[in-house]
Amino acid sequence: MDLPTSTRITVTPTGASLGADVSGIDLSQPVDQATFKQVEDAWHEHLVLRFRGQQLDDPKFLAFARKFGELDKAPIHAGKLVEDPFPEITVMSNIKVNGVSIGNLGHYEAEWHTDMSYNDLTPIGSLLYALEVPPSGGNTGFSNMYAAFDTLPADLKRRIATLQCRHDSSRNSAGELRKGFKDISDPREAPGAIHPLIRTHPGTRRNALYLGRRRNAYIIGLPLEESEALLNELWAHASQTRFAWYQEWKVGDLIMWDNRCAMHRRDAFDPESRRLMHRTQIKGGKPFFDPATVAA
Ligand code: OGA
Ligand code: MN
Repeated sequence: MDLPTSTRITVTPTGASLGADVSGIDLSQPVDQATFKQVEDAWHEHLVLRFRGQQLDDPKFLAFARKFGELDKAPIHAGKLVEDPFPEITVMSNIKVNGVSIGNLGHYEAEWHTDMSYNDLTPIGSLLYALEVPPSGGNTGFSNMYAAFDTLPADLKRRIATLQCRHDSSRNSAGELRKGFKDISDPREAPGAIHPLIRTHPGTRRNALYLGRRRNAYIIGLPLEESEALLNELWAHASQTRFAWYQEWKVGDLIMWDNRCAMHRRDAFDPESRRLMHRTQIKGGKPFFDPATVAA
């Protein structure tokens, strides 16, 4: 019988601004509370964790993910089975069967973003598990938004402390217009949720720059030109390579990222090659900024 055994995990930072490899843990086995706590602490410290060489079927993948909280249901899309046995698994893939995509995001580049910031409630994080990877391309970049916030000039930190941004819900992370949405050219008219520009992480109490995605973003209450100029300045700062780390995928890699304090993007890859990931997402809450975290 597989009894949970307490493990001492090994956490090896990437050396970049975020990310660490976790070894000494087999995620196909039940993870006890003491081991889970080590993983959670490492996640809070490193924002993105990578577990290499895992062998997970969907039930085992879900069992591990559920330790972090309730999971979101996957969005409905064309290739999704009506009788889906695992509604909390989203397929991320460019593979087509009989001309129909079996998953999301295709082979295109995905620009820097945090997931679902256009909703009022935004996910805590996601887990992405590689089943098939292309021989090259399709790397996923992550960037540290605590570090981006910490390194802003003091006057800019003060300026954005009271500002909120609206996050466009009309396009997905590959820039494609979502079904049923109008093509917006004036950011002031974009639909979507409004969130503070500085986000306090409820677990670490640290503050992160919370940008979502650039296209059609709008800072509430500012003249359009001022909103554009400020967003350009914040994005130029946040997109610096010194805050980023890139994952080069191998089959069996499981990556989990904290969506509250990290952004991610993906390189395009050859549409003729196959990339297949299973993904699950931890249900979140309403982003907030706690001014008490900032020294007076
Ligand atoms: C995502 C995402 C990038 C990738 O799953 O939210 O942006 O590398 N994925 O597939
Ligand atoms: Mn994403």
